[in-house]
Amino acid sequence: MKKRRVGVLISGNGSNLQALIDACAAADYPAQIVLVISNKPDAYGLVRAKNAGIPAHIVNHKDYASREEFDIAMNVLLNKYEAEFVCLAGFMRILSAGFVDAWQGRMLNIHPSLLPDFKGGHAVRDALAAGAKETGCSVHLVTEEMDAGEVIAQAKISILTDDSEEKLHQRIHEQEHLLYPQALKILINNN
Ligand code: GRF
Repeated sequence: MKKRRVGVLISGNGSNLQALIDACAAADYPAQIVLVISNKPDAYGLVRAKNAGIPAHIVNHKDYASREEFDIAMNVLLNKYEAEFVCLAGFMRILSAGFVDAWQGRMLNIHPSLLPDFKGGHAVRDALAAGAKETGCSVHLVTEEMDAGEVIAQAKISILTDDSEEKLHQRIHEQEHLLYPQALKILINNN
């Protein structure tokens, strides 16, 4: 089996990146991570990439005059490593239309809610504040509208009466780590 080439974009801890790294270690998993890009120089995910022997690059958005130029710099790297798919894993920048277009149908994001519920940057807090009985996580194709692309896979989680944002996000993370490798596999098998 020829493993398909995946680039992962991160901004932080990278626990979902780790889940993808671990899945890719299996001989029968259809992907390999060929590079990791972080827009944050101190993201712990860069250490995870290096520990796994994966090329890790910092593309600091602060070094670019515009969103477009930042995205072009990332695309140059993705093309250099011949990435075929992109996974956003806790990547905290909005992408330009040109970048989204270039990866249409081949770029995934993971979001900590049952989309279309609770889009945006505070999904776990918002689910708690709304008094929802359940929430979860979603892996979806990235389109120009934030958190709005086709959902590839979802996992549900009950919200407990004594949940804090931290405890709930912890349980969501556990499901995310199972879901993201499954969703990437589905995308690859459909391509
Ligand atoms: C995850 O909860 C993901 O859903 C959201 O950002 C978080 C990233 O966590 N987009 P990590 O960096 O993968 O640990």
